[in-house]
This record gives sequence, C-alpha cells and structure tokens, in this order.
Amino acid sequence: MPEIAVQEEVTGADRRSAIERFETVRRETDALSANLTAEDQSIQSMPDVSPTKWHLGHTTWFFETFVLDRFDADYRVFDPAFRYLFNSYYEAVGPRHPRPERGLLSRPTVDIIAAYRDHVSAAVARLIQRVGETEWREVATLVELGVHHEQQHQELILMDIKHVFSMNPLLPAYQAPQLQIQAPPRQLDWIEFGGGVKEIGNAGRSFAFDNEGPRHKVWLEPFRLATRPVTCGDYLGFIEEGGYESPEFWLSDGWATIVERGWKAPLYWLRNGNEWSVFTLSGRRRLSPAEPVCHISFYEADAFARWAGKRVPTEAEWEVAAEDLPVAGNFADGGHFHPCADARADAAGELRQMYGDVWEWTASPYTPYPRFRPASGAIGEYNGKFMCNQIVLRGGAAVTPAGHVRASYRNFFPPSARWAFAGLRLAEDIG
Ligand SMILES: [Fe+2]
Repeated sequence: MPEIAVQEEVTGADRRSAIERFETVRRETDALSANLTAEDQSIQSMPDVSPTKWHLGHTTWFFETFVLDRFDADYRVFDPAFRYLFNSYYEAVGPRHPRPERGLLSRPTVDIIAAYRDHVSAAVARLIQRVGETEWREVATLVELGVHHEQQHQELILMDIKHVFSMNPLLPAYQAPQLQIQAPPRQLDWIEFGGGVKEIGNAGRSFAFDNEGPRHKVWLEPFRLATRPVTCGDYLGFIEEGGYESPEFWLSDGWATIVERGWKAPLYWLRNGNEWSVFTLSGRRRLSPAEPVCHISFYEADAFARWAGKRVPTEAEWEVAAEDLPVAGNFADGGHFHPCADARADAAGELRQMYGDVWEWTASPYTPYPRFRPASGAIGEYNGKFMCNQIVLRGGAAVTPAGHVRASYRNFFPPSARWAFAGLRLAEDIG
C-alpha cells in the first residue's frame, strides 16, 4: 500500500479505539438519514446524484469488499447481488449497476439496507478485535480509509438530498430552520504572501489520501489573497451589472455552458421580482448578503473574478496560505448545513473562513503531483484515475464532517459542477 495506508497513529492505536472511531462514523451516517422517508431515500434527481439509500449501501459495500472479503475467512456475505448494486467505479472488483440508474432501485428496501449495514458493522468490529498481529496493520489502515471514505459520502448524502428536494415544487426542508447568524458584510482586505520556493502536499505524519502527496516544491510569484470568501452580496453585484450577459468575463467553455443551460444566478437562487431567496437544507429563505456565495461552478467563479479585476488562486497559493491556520470553522458538526456570515470580531491581517462554509475553487487542474503513484490493485482506483478534466477545490464546507479536511486536502469536481457547496476567494498578483 502507498501513502493511503501507512498511518503511524492508526497502527499504534489500540483496537478498541479503532472500533470506537469506526462505529462513531457509521452512526453519524445513519443519523443523516433518520429524518428521511423511504421515498426520499430512493430518488436520483440527476446522474451525478445518488439516492441516500445507495450511499448507505455503497459505504457498507466498501468495508465488505476491501476489508471483510480479504481478511475474514469466516465472513458470511449478506447478499451476493450487492456486489453488483453497490460497486461505484472499481473496475478491478467487477461489473456494476450503471450510475445514472441508481434511482431505479426500489429494491433492496431501506430496511434491508439498514440490516446490511448492521451485519457488516458487526463483522468489521469483530475482525478488528480478532485479526492476527501480522494482518492487523493492513486491516487498520483499510478500515481507516473506509472511515474517511464514509465521511466523504456523508457530505454527498447532504449535497444529493438538497438537489433531490430542490426538484420538488414543494421545496421540502431536510431539517428545521437553524439560527441564522446575522452580521453586516465584512470589508474585503488583502494579505500579502512572498514568492519563492515553497513546499506543498501531505508530509505523511497522519492520514491523508494518496492524491495529497508526495510533498514537493513549487515556485510561487508574490501574491495577495482576500481575507474572506466572496459573499452573496458581492455576487449579486456581478449579476446586477450584467455579468451573466457579458461574454468578455467568461471562458469559452463557461459561456457555452451558461448559454446552453440558461444560468443567470448560482444554483438554488430563486428570484421573485427584485427579491432573491435561496433554497437551503432548512428550506427557502431570504438571500443574506454577508454569507459566502455557494453553489457556483468553476466557470462562474472565474467569471466573477475577472469581473472584479482579480483572479482565482492556485491550489499551491491556497495551501501555503492555509498551512499554519487551525482547521476550524463552520463544518457539518455545527448543524447549519449552510455557509454562515462571519460574526466573529475583527482581527486585522487575518484570513477568515478558509476552512468550512464553502469549498473554494482554485485555478488548478486536478493532476498528479510529481512522483505520485496510485496504490496497486482496486484501491488504486480511489483517486488516481480521475486526474483529468477536473478542478481542485480546497478547505471544506458546511456539510463536510469536522476533522475530515486539512491544508493538503484536494477535493475535485468538473468545472461545470454546481451541486457541491462551492464558492471562491479572490487572489491577485503583486507587482
Ligand atoms: Fe465511494
């Protein structure tokens, strides 16, 4: 196994703490579907979206396939058909149900999938207790990978059910209204960073996905980074000044996309005369100018930056700026499931909301770092094979599990994707 697997803190931890962490994350996933009906959990509103119950089955399949099948000779497979239904994209594991047709799976029912989850969770906990010393290290690292994988799907469950509900004219709310943080829009300031040789990428001391390494040198020219993300109020200025009608701000692919799809505002923005509202996981509410703008494509982020006379930062600039900041912010554990206005006291010269609230688009294509090698076997398909035609995002969002991201974490989506909780922060060159 390459970097994914070699985790000193996991292999050094005792088995009880590994079980506790595994079971905690499994419970957190279950809790996300607790208020959803069986009907809610079955819908696929577009090919990128998966039904909630498919996520629940697939995260379970991951442990069954990569941990139990390999290391537990006594494991009794719950249902052999699930191997086909819940394989996402692993060619080495075998054929799979087509992704755009996951919404056709009225069976297995949510109850059967819940039983599948219990069956596999119990078997994994048993294996962690009983596996021999020689295999323990590999089991521990694969369980850790499965836990981080499940956290990624926790975020996908929230992204996907938001899209599902947004397609329903009743605009159902996933959860009760949350206390909305009120704060005046904060002035946008700039922080300067010197250029030169810098290092980015995970240094390998704790868990990281393989795509975050190896750590390597990059060259940066001096730059400035905005102290806060672009807000809804900022973005409204772009809309009102005709940003969506002005091809000079747009990349060619971006202009073609907004013309073809008729985009005039971020996803989930609703207009009634001069009044704007946004659809959230707590239902529809008035647009708040101080909140970070969310649900924009890379094309929109780039066009906004050009309109503002700035640019989108590279992932190396973002990481160098974020590296020494505490990984704290508005993450999923806060329960807002929506970016919030920044109500904290002013502190001059401070980067704010780098973590949490919204994933920040960067200008960097998602490509392998120098000397990157994916793992051998099926698990090597986790990240490496997607390194084409996608853009890197950084920092995590209000639906990302707390503790899941770090400075080196690389999320990625195609430039036209809008259903992720994605916004941007501006950068500019110095000199
Ligand atoms: Fe997955």
